[in-house]
Amino acid sequence: MERTFLMVKPDGVERKLVGEIIARFERKGFTLVALQMLTPSKELAEAHYGVHRDKSFFASVVAFITSGPVVAMVWEGPDVINLARRVIGATKPAESTAGTIRGDFANTTEQNLIHGSDSAETAAEEIRLWFPNL
Ligand code: GTP
Ligand code: MG
Repeated sequence: MERTFLMVKPDGVERKLVGEIIARFERKGFTLVALQMLTPSKELAEAHYGVHRDKSFFASVVAFITSGPVVAMVWEGPDVINLARRVIGATKPAESTAGTIRGDFANTTEQNLIHGSDSAETAAEEIRLWFPNL
């Protein structure tokens, strides 16, 4: 059994897609373990996207994620880290296929609705960062 960190980004909250997104993971059979709605601080956002610190889009992704409330969550299930990324779909809109969250609802790389941890290591780090008491 694995755990992963998933987060509905400000565009997902703004567009009222929180229920739609959560429903997809529930229907896939995964278990919601923890959930918190918050507007991330700049410090939290920079720590979360720390791996992208040297990329050209770092400032813009931090500005976006701190622009409004997000829904931070921990989900549990077999192979949930990898399978949740498949439910989410690819980062670039031209590569995210229909049937995935991004494929169905996102049309830009910047506003792509949801984050999912990309490895066992980042899942553990992100769960610790967003849910220190879990
Ligand atoms: P996350 O789940 O949010 O981490 O997305 P990802 O794992 O699919 O993509 P990645 O970690 O590579 O990038 C993190 C975020 O930075 C993406 O979700 C985008 O919002 C943004 N991003 C990634 N690549 C680009 C890019 O080339 N240009 C811009 N403007 N933003 C990008
Ligand atoms: Mg990523």
